Amino acid sequence: MAFATRHFVRTAASSAAATAAAKKLVVKHVTVIGGGLMGAGIAQVAAASGHTVVLVDQSDEILKKSTKGIEESLKRVTKKKFADKPEAGAEFIEKTLKNLSTSTDAVAVVHSTDLVIEAIVENQEIKNELFKRLDKFAPEHTIFASNTSSLQITQLANSTTRQDRFGGLHFFNPVPMMKLVEVIKTPMTSQKTFESLVDFSKAVGKSPVSCKDTPGFIVNRLLVPYMMEAVRLFERGDASKEDIDVAMKLGAGYPMGPFELLDYVGLDTSKYIIDGWHSLEPNNPLFAPSPLLNKLVQEKKLGKKTGEGFYKYK
Ligand code: NAI
Repeated sequence: MAFATRHFVRTAASSAAATAAAKKLVVKHVTVIGGGLMGAGIAQVAAASGHTVVLVDQSDEILKKSTKGIEESLKRVTKKKFADKPEAGAEFIEKTLKNLSTSTDAVAVVHSTDLVIEAIVENQEIKNELFKRLDKFAPEHTIFASNTSSLQITQLANSTTRQDRFGGLHFFNPVPMMKLVEVIKTPMTSQKTFESLVDFSKAVGKSPVSCKDTPGFIVNRLLVPYMMEAVRLFERGDASKEDIDVAMKLGAGYPMGPFELLDYVGLDTSKYIIDGWHSLEPNNPLFAPSPLLNKLVQEKKLGKKTGEGFYKYK
């Protein structure tokens, strides 16, 4: 009987552990690394939906700028969302900001986090180094995710010992406005991790879609070759950039033409993406580099952010 009881207790305990292990993780505490354009937006939507968020960057000065940007964005969101209820709007801003804190020390804050979302500079080595370091300090259950647009999630996951708890969470710019998140599952991502990432995307008010770890995932895999094809059409002298933009807006119903979009995304970013894909698949004509795009980047005409790209903005 004693044996039977012990056996029962042991079986019950191990099956409880197995159930816990099989259960999806409900993300409550989030660490966002990188307080730039994307990281600040991700931190904002996560905090606004009730998660406790720590936003990490390299200096207090950068973090001050990120927080100011978040406050301004929250005011804009609130004006729309709570147009007739200014008090509820003020409460929403207060609650969101209460959920948000900042730090310059990622290692010191990951010990209590469920999900780390990385949104730092698009550089494989720097990202690998960060993930490798955090892997040593984050708890066992913590999921790591990258917001990278063009690097392979699998290679980033391989810099850690938690490949099964690693995936892609690709948000879109501007994060508070854009509804889509691409959830990327590598061959090593566990189903439980994948489902937790899908649930988290829904919890922050987004519509997740899933994709394998393939260059550009869904949106950029279609969008970047389309923009490059527009540049080639223009380079050949077949049509002006203005007419191509008008054509795609009025003929295809796109909100922006390809040249307006390239200037908005940044010509350096677009070049970086296409060059990376070209080195992976040199014979794929869709990934061929463009001499005109390369020339503009060399001249530091990077688009809206520098005042000139395909168009002038000054
Ligand atoms: P950004 O340049 O605006 O921000 C990057 C931030 O990371 C900077 O504030 C920088 O100080 C910080 N940072 C760099 N190294 C760091 C480190 N080791 N530790 C902590 N902070 C560090 O870049 P952005 O545009 O926000 O992009 C970030 C990531 O998001 C990239 O991987 C990019 O591919 C991806 N992405 C960008 C989109 C866009 O439209 N800009 C869209 C979707 C994804």
